[in-house]
Amino acid sequence: MWSQVYCLFFLCATVGATPSGSTDPIEGLGLLAQKYGLWFHIDAAYAGSALICPELRHYLIGTEHASSISMNLHKWFLTNLDCSGLWVKNRSDLLDTLSMTAEVIRNDAACFEGEASDGKLTSRAEFNFNTFESTFPNWLANVSSLEYADLSYCNLNGRISLGLSELPSLSYLNLAGNNNLSASSHKLFGGSWTNIKVLDFSPNKLHGKLPDTIGNMTFLTNFSLMSNNINGGIPSSIGKLCNLVDFDLSGNNLTGSLPEKLVGSQSCASKTLLPSLVRLWLSNNKLVGKLPNWLGHIPNLLELSLNYNFLEGPIPDSLGTLKKLTDLGWTLGRFFPAL
Ligand SMILES: *Cc1c(COP(=O)(O)O)cnc(C)c1O
Ligand SMILES: *[C@@H]1O[C@H](CO)[C@@H](O)[C@H](O)[C@H]1NC(C)=O
Ligand SMILES: *[C@@H]1O[C@H](CO)[C@@H](O)[C@H](O)[C@H]1NC(C)=O
Ligand SMILES: *[C@@H]1O[C@H](CO)[C@@H](O)[C@H](O)[C@H]1NC(C)=O
Ligand SMILES: *[C@@H]1O[C@H](CO)[C@@H](O)[C@H](O)[C@H]1NC(C)=O
Ligand SMILES: *[C@@H]1O[C@H](CO)[C@@H](O)[C@H](O)[C@H]1NC(C)=O
Ligand SMILES: *[C@@H]1O[C@H](CO)[C@@H](O)[C@H](O)[C@H]1NC(C)=O
Repeated sequence: MWSQVYCLFFLCATVGATPSGSTDPIEGLGLLAQKYGLWFHIDAAYAGSALICPELRHYLIGTEHASSISMNLHKWFLTNLDCSGLWVKNRSDLLDTLSMTAEVIRNDAACFEGEASDGKLTSRAEFNFNTFESTFPNWLANVSSLEYADLSYCNLNGRISLGLSELPSLSYLNLAGNNNLSASSHKLFGGSWTNIKVLDFSPNKLHGKLPDTIGNMTFLTNFSLMSNNINGGIPSSIGKLCNLVDFDLSGNNLTGSLPEKLVGSQSCASKTLLPSLVRLWLSNNKLVGKLPNWLGHIPNLLELSLNYNFLEGPIPDSLGTLKKLTDLGWTLGRFFPAL
């Protein structure tokens, strides 16, 4: 049963197996679990309800050894589906498991060292799909070795710590789906972001204008600002983003016209404009004016979405030369295509 590789920690006994009604010897298994320090769970989901009958209670002998026991009220007690009872011997085990600094993120295997609040984190922080409903954890910006942080869909609110932009090793930051994180995009992207490759802020409450300095994030591959509240125009410095693959600015409050020219493409090894860009989404903004020629000179562009803006035609001839473009959306703009 024991080996060098696997560590047994859980023993589950059944009181009333669903297909046959058979029942495990609770007392014997309980003693075994006690001997080896295992979590001992009794699954009485099916037959547990029957144990209200005194003549059947002997099936529960040994239950005192159990760490937890469950029974389904939604079966023989005819309550609504999903009404299930779970009893745990030591409630602090359960609270600990479901807490913000859960046991599972406090061990080396999960790349998390020390308490969450003292900044003793190695290099990864993963908390996504939690329900913290708390303010942004500012201490993250003090973890100088942080490389990867996924805090997507955590119900976080408050201000995003600007200090994150100064973390020298940070290459992945995902704050998607919190809906309520704010920051001045001017300040946030005015920071260094020296090693950043992936930035995802969709959807949240970033506001203000995009600064020219976004062109300095030259390692950036994926950049999503979808569904925020960013206003102002698109800086021409995006021409310096030679590694950019996916750029999503849809669902903001961008105004003005698209820059007539982009700067910096000469700095890309291939000497072409935005050589890696595959997906460019600008839909649902308030962009006006003509489509610039450079849109048609992005060599690997596959998806371009300009829907729901106030852009005007004519559509530049250069767009017709894009061989790879498969998905071009421009409904509701005011185009007068000269095709
Ligand atoms: C029904 C049943 C379950 C599953 O319980 P649900 O509340 O439906 O998820 C587990 N164990 C046994 C023995 C069952 O009969
Ligand atoms: C309950 O669990 C906690 C945390 O695992 C532990 O510290 C405590 O000693 C346990 N209490 C009992 C009564 O076993
Ligand atoms: C981060 O570090 C600075 C400087 O060491 C300190 O003043 C600040 O309190 C720390 N912030 C947090 C949230 O731990
Ligand atoms: C958003 O966060 C603020 C605090 O920054 C809070 O007051 C507000 O209730 C939150 N709104 C929603 C919809 O959660
Ligand atoms: C960042 O970008 C700005 C504006 O494009 C530029 O003036 C500045 O020199 C850049 N900084 C660095 C460190 O590259
Ligand atoms: C980056 O964008 C590309 C293209 O849309 C996508 O295939 C890839 O999964 C994205 N990578 C990350 C880390 O989000
Ligand atoms: C968009 O920006 C304009 C000014 O540029 C402002 O009046 C308007 O309130 C903004 N809309 C939203 C939804 O923030």
